[in-house]
Amino acid sequence: MIDIHCHILPATDDGAVSVEESVEMCRMAADDGIEVIVATPHMFDGVHTTPDREHIRARIEEVTRACNGRIKILPGGEVRYSHEIFQEAGDAESRIRLNGTSYMLLEFAFEMVPANIELTIYQMLQAGITPVIAHPERNKRIQRHPEIIADLVERGAFAQVDAGSLTKSFGPDSHALAVRILEAGLAHFIATDAHHHNKRRPLLKPALAVASGIVGAEYATALVDANPRALIEDKAIPYQPDPDLDALLGRRKKKWYAFWR
Ligand SMILES: [Fe+2]
Repeated sequence: MIDIHCHILPATDDGAVSVEESVEMCRMAADDGIEVIVATPHMFDGVHTTPDREHIRARIEEVTRACNGRIKILPGGEVRYSHEIFQEAGDAESRIRLNGTSYMLLEFAFEMVPANIELTIYQMLQAGITPVIAHPERNKRIQRHPEIIADLVERGAFAQVDAGSLTKSFGPDSHALAVRILEAGLAHFIATDAHHHNKRRPLLKPALAVASGIVGAEYATALVDANPRALIEDKAIPYQPDPDLDALLGRRKKKWYAFWR
């Protein structure tokens, strides 16, 4: 499995506090069956200092050495929606890209979706950046208006659901929308969004089990394997089901016999 969202870098943001914790997280992830982690420190979130490329490279090297190369760590970031994205978008080597690919992990503030996001997604695509929306199921506005995520996907974005939303770590609303996003075929990735070794841990298997129970093993496995594997190799995302808006909006389909009543 491949984890495209993890705060594994030591002393960089609100994730791992030390190299020792990063190593412990790598050990847990490897035991869980994760082969590759994309390190995604917060960027432009107004709270943490956005790390530069050299910082990310050096920390990855340090952690990789400390865990004897047991797991592969690739550079990336969790990029808060900001005008700074466009200052860096043209740079093929930019830190905002996941492993230097055309994909970028895009985060919104939890309470809102930026105005004109449709236009921004179009502009990002034009600039050679394909946004992957981080944990839409945890966004308060999308919880009230789930059709927003369907619209963003239709416009060319992808959606990444947090493993913890499926395992009910973020409350009933995030869980309910995560389930609907999966049922609607609008999820493209499940990632750990891990921060520590003892809470918000780097595990995918528990969420994979939940997801398999909802949408079946084939689609669920693609979300932690085939799709993220294609992403880190900068290829087209192979598993993109046709969206089912009825499932997203919780509109129950009538059973055939109900039409006779
Ligand atoms: Fe995150």
